[in-house]
Amino acid sequence: MTQPTLAPHEAASALFNELTGHAPMGLWSAPGRVNLIGEHTDYNEGFVLPFAISHRTVAAVGLRDDGRIRVASTFAEEPVEVHLADLAQVFPTAPGSAPAVPEWAAYPLGVAWALLDGRSASGTGVDIAIASEVPVGAGLSSSAAIEGATASALNELWNLGLSAKELASIGRTAENEAVGAPTGIMDQTASMLGAPDAAIFLDCRLLDSELVPLGMAEAHLAILVIDTHVKHAHATGGYRDRRDACERGAAVMGVAALRDLSVADLARAAELMDDVTFRRVRHIVTENQRVLDTVAALRTHGARAIGDLLVASHASMRDDFEISVAELDTAVEAALAAGALGARMTGGGFGGAAIALVEAAAVDAVSDAVVAAFADAGFAEPHLFTVSPSAGARRNK
Ligand code: GLA
Repeated sequence: MTQPTLAPHEAASALFNELTGHAPMGLWSAPGRVNLIGEHTDYNEGFVLPFAISHRTVAAVGLRDDGRIRVASTFAEEPVEVHLADLAQVFPTAPGSAPAVPEWAAYPLGVAWALLDGRSASGTGVDIAIASEVPVGAGLSSSAAIEGATASALNELWNLGLSAKELASIGRTAENEAVGAPTGIMDQTASMLGAPDAAIFLDCRLLDSELVPLGMAEAHLAILVIDTHVKHAHATGGYRDRRDACERGAAVMGVAALRDLSVADLARAAELMDDVTFRRVRHIVTENQRVLDTVAALRTHGARAIGDLLVASHASMRDDFEISVAELDTAVEAALAAGALGARMTGGGFGGAAIALVEAAAVDAVSDAVVAAFADAGFAEPHLFTVSPSAGARRNK
């Protein structure tokens, strides 16, 4: 297998060569993401504010003339090969079951299947070699990065002419129906539409998005990611359970989605539902409002003004939505105690990463404090690094 120390574009090219004996036709890449605020609001048709990070996944791709698709990756032992015409037998994956191919391969193959579904397949096969620097299982959307890189490559090589927004939706179809994870549209949108120094304010009902400048460098601020190394997965368990609770809450309130409720509706909601469902609903309703407040604060006062909203978001996820874990709470508390302006877990929860908004000059001090707090609590050492809002999916070569 290819050396993991290579940059991902070199590793993907080398793997492609190893696989096919020739050079790829091109390299396409897509980033992971950090969600600044707006958690679990996407599948409730609400608002999110993620940004793409500089860690990317690269797909080295070339056409072949036998109608077969072969995918290989630096994180798997063996390539997986299927005839394009057989993808319709492989997918969709039944809800609650594992895909019929190794899970990592369901992402790129699922993208190919979603792209061909309903379109006249050209019948042209492809070889795809994937390498990534997005940490897996950290809540930074390594899966959306694979989907974005693959979808961008196939869109171009198969002359499909789809927009970045349409490719995000293809990625979500692959995730939901091929991998079997009932996720929303946030991660794929961030990976496709990211831009330097900006967050993407997305209305998940209308699928309208706007870039909101973050001005991190001018404000002398940085975003620190604290990867707890507690692995999470969205195909099973808690994530699906939270979705069900949200649907239940919306049904009780007689609305299409929790997006349709405002903070003023919460008193009535408290009377109509059990305590757990109510707290799930309260998280979504207040989180939607916090996204709107964060966008307004960023536009009026800049990133320095959003710290308290991040802290309130974390408390809501910990107490009402109950998707945090002890390591994430420790990360947030230690960062705040060491002077972070705000901190919260990011992504689906049940593990993964937290983010902290910190003075650029205080990155080392806050990092040391978090590492020390983890050691005191007897947790495995976390991985800390800063991220910059970066460009979305693109062709590299
Ligand atoms: C995961 C999902 C997203 C979103 C977040 C929670 O990242 O993929 O669609 O639901 O969790 O905000």
